[in-house]
Amino acid sequence: MSHSRPFYVAFAPLQGYTGAIYRQAHHLCAGGVDEYYTPFLRIERDAVRGKDLRDVAPAACEGVPTVPQVIANGGDEFARLCDALQGQGWNRIDLNMGCPFPMQVRAGRGCGLLQHRERVEEIRREMLRRSDVAFSVKMRLGQESETEGEAIMSIVNAMPLLHVTLHPRLGRQQYKGEADRDAFIRFAQRCQHPMVYNGDLTEVSQHEWDALHIKGVMLGRGLLARPWMLCERDPQEVVGEMHALIYRHATTRLCGDSQILAHLHAFWEYLDIPHRLKKPIMKATTLSRYNEAVANYTKKIS
Ligand SMILES: Cc1cc2nc3c(=O)[nH]c(=O)nc-3n(C[C@H](O)[C@H](O)[C@H](O)COP(=O)(O)O)c2cc1C
Repeated sequence: MSHSRPFYVAFAPLQGYTGAIYRQAHHLCAGGVDEYYTPFLRIERDAVRGKDLRDVAPAACEGVPTVPQVIANGGDEFARLCDALQGQGWNRIDLNMGCPFPMQVRAGRGCGLLQHRERVEEIRREMLRRSDVAFSVKMRLGQESETEGEAIMSIVNAMPLLHVTLHPRLGRQQYKGEADRDAFIRFAQRCQHPMVYNGDLTEVSQHEWDALHIKGVMLGRGLLARPWMLCERDPQEVVGEMHALIYRHATTRLCGDSQILAHLHAFWEYLDIPHRLKKPIMKATTLSRYNEAVANYTKKIS
């Protein structure tokens, strides 16, 4: 059975990996993605982090279908983050209720929000006040147990959402164990919003999902590993072109080899290329060694 609407494919937000320049490079050199989610914007020291705001500045996202994501511990933080984004002209916002990082969970954000019905309800009310914004939610099954997601289902169902993206793991699992597809199905059966599946995908095989009637899938690490996965282009060309853009950005915007290299290493870290070629790139501690290692990769491959 085929879908009457196109199958939606999203690039997952990955803090430290999918910043504006990466999203732009992927969109220009590979593509095949309907929407790119940004790593979450957060409140820190009572203000929206400037670094986060720069990553979603309209100029940085120009031409790339982008969904800014926020993480909040309740209605107040959520409202402040939405105000900041709406002030930049955004009318599409994703809420993170799935981050398992202990610092965020302890602060009642991400997965830590799932245990607080009243806080989720505050956020729902904030969403309703902002009828000009299209919202979505990205979440896990719960922090400690699947019952947490079930307990807030009625509130999630009453939120005005385009879709819910579910990563079917618990927060306390972080990334261990298998993504639980049966739990995804149980959730999808009770959720009244269109569903997007996220977790451990290394390819998009729509037929696999047809019976579930889901809206689409979101890919994270699988797409970092094989950014060429959704296009017909030669993998090496994609890597070479993406790297050229990211390299130019890093070397013109950042200062000092270590800062530049930290940024560049993130591009290679998950990439699915032979270990013997990746190792010298990752080990380089100076830009000149790095350039040599990258040149060696290009030469050996071609
Ligand atoms: C290093 C790292 C950073 C992440 N940052 C975010 C984030 O900012 N917001 C978010 O919703 N999820 C974040 N995630 C979770 C991913 O978006 C995704 O849900 C998870 O990696 C599972 O999908 P995958 O198996 O396709 O990678 C992060 C995951 C990793 C490994």
